[in-house]
Amino acid sequence: MSLEHWEAYYRGGALATCPTSPEGGYDLELREVWRDFFAPLPAQARLLDIGTGNGAVALIAAETAAALGRRWEIHATDLAQIDPPRHVPGGAERFSGITFHPGVATEQLPFPEAHFDAVSGQYALEYSDTARALAELARVLKPGARAQFVLHHAESRLVLTGKVSQREAELVFNELRVYRRLRKLLAGERMSADAAQRAGVEVQSAIRALKLALPQAQQSGGGRMLAVTLDAVRKLMEMRAEARPELVGLEIDRAENELRAGVRRLNDLVVHACSNERMTELEGQAATAGFEVLERVPQYHAGANLVGWRLVLRRA
Ligand SMILES: C[S@@+](CC[C@H](N)C(=O)[O-])C[C@H]1O[C@@H](n2cnc3c(N)ncnc32)[C@H](O)[C@@H]1O
Repeated sequence: MSLEHWEAYYRGGALATCPTSPEGGYDLELREVWRDFFAPLPAQARLLDIGTGNGAVALIAAETAAALGRRWEIHATDLAQIDPPRHVPGGAERFSGITFHPGVATEQLPFPEAHFDAVSGQYALEYSDTARALAELARVLKPGARAQFVLHHAESRLVLTGKVSQREAELVFNELRVYRRLRKLLAGERMSADAAQRAGVEVQSAIRALKLALPQAQQSGGGRMLAVTLDAVRKLMEMRAEARPELVGLEIDRAENELRAGVRRLNDLVVHACSNERMTELEGQAATAGFEVLERVPQYHAGANLVGWRLVLRRA
């Protein structure tokens, strides 16, 4: 399974995948639930953050420890090739004291039994094979230790707008084939005035279709994918006047790959979002793995904005 779409995002240096704060991390209630979860841990606790990405939750753990004057041993794993100290601006300093483990599946953790005092995971557990992952987490947690997860909620705005963006991506890539038309224009310009003219008409008609679809999409809370595409197409068309065709071709590839990676991340998010029934299934898997379910509640941010489920488990 390729995780290049996540790895590309992390190389870009963003701290969180679904940020809520202007600084790119998790703030308000989302920060509070993590602070409240970590704060009661003893002075010498060992923590594990799974599916950590660029380490946003691991960082909250480290900041909580610093604020309380404690020295926790913090480990953070992800199946992707992560390297937050390198990729996040100021990362070497911000993440000092956190050990990152790239290429590690939650289903198969490189830690001994009863090793951790707490496990955390934001938008993380649901991306794994949950029955196997929960059994593995039960193995590495000490008896009585807690795990807290924030999982994607099938009715959150994030997931609902994600579905709108999926439909927009369908229009961009499959119906209008925008990037293919741009490449055709580039090739046409090298062939003949006639071929260039025909390809130019096709590009203009795709631009018109995008412009037509944009206000409608914006009215229903979407439009981001269309706006990004329109912007990219405009820039690429301008670039044609100044740059060599090979460079324009490379830029078309880059813009398309970036957008496709964004769509793959959205697909991941939508596929793994949890309905009420899915949460019940997950609770059953947790019980089978040896957990007691302490709490399962909808998680809100900034008051009324539904951003997930919060699930708290205790290792029996
Ligand atoms: C939505 S991101 C969340 C990252 C981070 N927790 C955050 O909130 O920004 C989901 C992450 O799960 C990771 N992932 C997917 N399947 C996994 C698995 N089986 N084991 C561990 N990590 C996995 C992906 O690589 C990705 O980094």
